[in-house]
Amino acid sequence: MRSDANIAGPMTDPVPGPRTESVGDGVSRETPPPMDDTPIGRAAQLAVEALGRAGEGLPRPDRTRVMVVANQKGGVGKTTTTVNLAASLALHGARVLVVDLDPQGNASTALGIDHHSDVPSIYDVLVESRPLSEVVQPVPDVEGLFCAPATIDLAGAEIELVSLVARESRLQRAIQAYEQPLDYILIDCPPSLGLLTVNAMVAGAEVLIPIQCEYYALEGLGQLLRNVDLVRGHLNPDLHVSTILLTMYDGRTRLASQVAEEVRTHFGKEVLRTSIPRSVRISEAPSYGQTVLTYDPGSSGSLSYLEAAREIALRGVGVHYEAQHAHAIQNSQQNVSEGIQ
Ligand SMILES: Nc1ncnc2c1ncn2[C@@H]1O[C@H](COP(=O)(O)OP(=O)(O)OP(=O)(O)O)[C@@H](O)[C@H]1O
Ligand SMILES: [Mg+2]
Repeated sequence: MRSDANIAGPMTDPVPGPRTESVGDGVSRETPPPMDDTPIGRAAQLAVEALGRAGEGLPRPDRTRVMVVANQKGGVGKTTTTVNLAASLALHGARVLVVDLDPQGNASTALGIDHHSDVPSIYDVLVESRPLSEVVQPVPDVEGLFCAPATIDLAGAEIELVSLVARESRLQRAIQAYEQPLDYILIDCPPSLGLLTVNAMVAGAEVLIPIQCEYYALEGLGQLLRNVDLVRGHLNPDLHVSTILLTMYDGRTRLASQVAEEVRTHFGKEVLRTSIPRSVRISEAPSYGQTVLTYDPGSSGSLSYLEAAREIALRGVGVHYEAQHAHAIQNSQQNVSEGIQ
């Protein structure tokens, strides 16, 4: 984990050319080739540059920010948010690891990472104490993005962990022992509050809750927040809800804006000003093993995740966020509401 002093300045790599990793990482000796070596990588990079979002001096966090993407409600956009935010942060120049902690393995699929049952996975890390470095894979097409995949084995881990020593802190230990420099670790949790989610909450300081802009959006959140309090009280004093992200926002419906207003009243400053529109492109991307950032770099979904990532990066260092490119986002959200996307 990175814990060096704040490296001010852009998230871009100060050292040109491929980065050499330390020996014994089990991943690869070099980071993948620059993403503009591939057509989709080039397209994404162009979109980022066209919007002026790359190289605009986004600050890097002074230590690795471990963000737990959790909501025990199913289908609210946890996985979609994890992979697209991670790709956005990487496109902004950060080094990012996605930990897939859901036996469904949806984050691994969306990142184009092989996760059949023989692949070394996060199960081996949690249950067999295998080093994280032995399971992490670079994500194709996005430089600086890595994934610790989940296989179906993980479905049994919830039970197997019960009898293991330090069952709640096995992920935390694995992350602490991971020596690669990282700016962010995003953990995609399953839709439950069992031991897997508890492991994530012990490993991270920040909880990111995606909330779907639909009826009953806030239902069940009380239980999630109580769990956060319990883990903070007993296992991880640093844990707090740092970020709420409104997902699948549909500007055509009054319901969506009512839900958004209710969430903002309830949570206040934790809610990102950027919300994620409902977008067909976002839902199509995973079936191509891609994030929306490479699948359709200019789409409204891609632009909003880039903007959300920017907001998160700025908040992390206490810099006031000014919505930039609001026009572009507004236009693309309008496209959604007009049914163009
Ligand atoms: N902004 C969006 N626009 C359109 N579809 C979306 C959007 N966000 C997510 N989806 C779709 O909604 C479904 C649920 O999203 P996702 O898998 O990210 O939720 P989840 O919370 O991870 O689900 P689970 O609880 O099963 O892990 C997926 O089919 C996804 O493609
Ligand atoms: Mg999911």
